[in-house]
Amino acid sequence: KNIAVLFGGKSVEHEVSVITGMQVMENIDKSKYNVVPVFIDKEGRWFTGDELLEFKNFKEKNLKNIKEIVVTPTYNENRIFSHPDKVGLFSKKFSEKIDAAFIALHGTNGEDGTVQGVFELMNIPYVSAGVIGSSVGMDKILMKDVYKSHGLPIVDYTWFFRKAWEDDKNAVLDKIESKLKYPVFVKPSNLGSSVGITRAKDRESLEESIEVAIRYDRKIIVEAAVENPREINCAVMGYDNKVKASLCEEPIGWKELLTYEDKYVNSNSKGSKNGGRNIPADLSSEKAKEIQETAMASFMAIDCKGNARIDFLMDEDEKIYVNEINTQPGSVGYYLWEPMGINFTQLVDELLDIAYA
Ligand code: DAL
Ligand code: MG
Repeated sequence: KNIAVLFGGKSVEHEVSVITGMQVMENIDKSKYNVVPVFIDKEGRWFTGDELLEFKNFKEKNLKNIKEIVVTPTYNENRIFSHPDKVGLFSKKFSEKIDAAFIALHGTNGEDGTVQGVFELMNIPYVSAGVIGSSVGMDKILMKDVYKSHGLPIVDYTWFFRKAWEDDKNAVLDKIESKLKYPVFVKPSNLGSSVGITRAKDRESLEESIEVAIRYDRKIIVEAAVENPREINCAVMGYDNKVKASLCEEPIGWKELLTYEDKYVNSNSKGSKNGGRNIPADLSSEKAKEIQETAMASFMAIDCKGNARIDFLMDEDEKIYVNEINTQPGSVGYYLWEPMGINFTQLVDELLDIAYA
């Protein structure tokens, strides 16, 4: 079977996705699958070619010799989407060669339902949540609205459009202050990897935080901060109600906010060969079970599929809050499954099976 592995992408998580894509291509069972690498650059152009199997080639200057793909989500080359001069991955001739796709993309245009929709149109199975699960999971506001309606534990929050901020800053600040107590976190609704997120402790810093967040998104969410939280993460794999939870992990060595650098740059390894995380997290078995059950409910609530990592905050009284769901977690969250006896190769295998389910 030919498996297209998509990585890179237009989002702020481009570099993280290159790592995830490389890991998938390295670990996929080569006796069963033939890898077709598909690199998406920061402008959104798609490339393929065996040169892309090597990490050093993901530099703009090296792409010249690599074949650019025309993305034509149709089976009929005469239709409006196709390009008459070039035969792309998704025109008739080529799409027959792709049996399934592994979407190793994070964030905007990768984890938000857009690229999932392209594969739906072409009838090509893919490893990822579907269009709805991806888009709801990506939008922190919609995600929290759904979780709230399911009675899942979440922190108090409120939100507004950037346009509303531009119209009347004081009205927005008043509304936030009427709903939440400081400190709060201000976040762009649609980004991953903690980009654009800051903490505010009063009206003045709230205004500054909002000015940061609106650079990244049209919708901003403001959340009550949990004091001195522990972050506990748990992965869930499956589809429909056929789901299972991984062990819990606790990222360590961070303070108020787990930043992009903490997640991907610093690796102050302590207690784990992966660095910066304790697996399993130091929890009572009851608490670990509560987190695993809440993680599975969070996965099903947004109609997720494949493998997601649900991130929790736990306060000093051990009350847990679902902070977010990552429907395409960095490194496919392999390190959470490995201690359960599912190595990276088996994880990719299982996810490809789920893609056909
Ligand atoms: N959004 C990144 C990739 C993660 O949370 O794993
Ligand atoms: Mg996260």
